[in-house]
Amino acid sequence: MRIEGTTALVTGANRGLGRHLASQLRDRGAIVYAAARNPETVDLPGVTPIALDVTDPASVAAAAAAASGVAILVNNAGSQTRSSLLTGDLPDIRLEMDTHFFGTLAVARAFAPQLTAHDQSAMLNVLSGLSWISFPQVGAYCAAKSAEWSLTNALRLDLAPEGTRVSALHVGYMDTDMVRHLDVPKANPADIAKLAVDGIEAGDAEIVADETSRQVLDQLSAGVAGLYPLVA
Ligand SMILES: NC(=O)c1ccc[n+]([C@@H]2O[C@H](COP(=O)([O-])OP(=O)(O)OC[C@H]3O[C@@H](n4cnc5c(N)ncnc54)[C@H](OP(=O)(O)O)[C@@H]3O)[C@@H](O)[C@H]2O)c1
Repeated sequence: MRIEGTTALVTGANRGLGRHLASQLRDRGAIVYAAARNPETVDLPGVTPIALDVTDPASVAAAAAAASGVAILVNNAGSQTRSSLLTGDLPDIRLEMDTHFFGTLAVARAFAPQLTAHDQSAMLNVLSGLSWISFPQVGAYCAAKSAEWSLTNALRLDLAPEGTRVSALHVGYMDTDMVRHLDVPKANPADIAKLAVDGIEAGDAEIVADETSRQVLDQLSAGVAGLYPLVA
């Protein structure tokens, strides 16, 4: 996938990984729409801010109408309510699904006609190592990321005949606001953004960006015994 001269849109591009993804795409010569709930918070020079709340169908439709020629769509926007599925507040649990699953779905549907209008196009969905493994204290987030993983696989099959390559980015902890409260080793989101854009360029279906995600992926085929030895 050629990046230079191609039009890209990144959701949640005002901060965190999304800001690095927008900046990385811009630096490689893409024409970048930096989508954000509040476009005034986009502070990257050389990109076009655009309003987009992925949970609001009217906002998604307005963004798709306002943007044109998008051939690279990056579904990055994400929430983290730190909710347990058993004891968390249901509105928080719904927010995770609304953002990661229904939000990504809405944006993918709204922008699919722009993507498929090109001979070659790409979608990158920002997933997680937590698409593959669950931790009860963030069970709602994990469930939403798993749902987004399944969505990503469905979309890749739907869109392959149209020339749209769908990539999934899996990563563990990154040093962003989302996990600011955790004192654990974290990847630099600038490095992850570079790997992600390398993956888009190479047409990689799956970008497993750090050791944690690679380890979880290795355990997947071992089933519950591999992932949750304590309960197996
Ligand atoms: N940080 C990690 O350790 C980690 C690990 C694996 C995967 N991820 C994934 O990486 C992606 C980026 O997260 P991050 O780490 O950069 O987190 P972050 O710094 O908290 O940024 C989250 C971004 O998503 C935006 N957003 C949230 N809800 C939105 C909505 N309804 N519509 C549009 N934008 C919305 C936020 O916009 P506002 O500024 O308006 O809130 C912000 O731009 C997410 O998909 C996350 O799940 C993160």
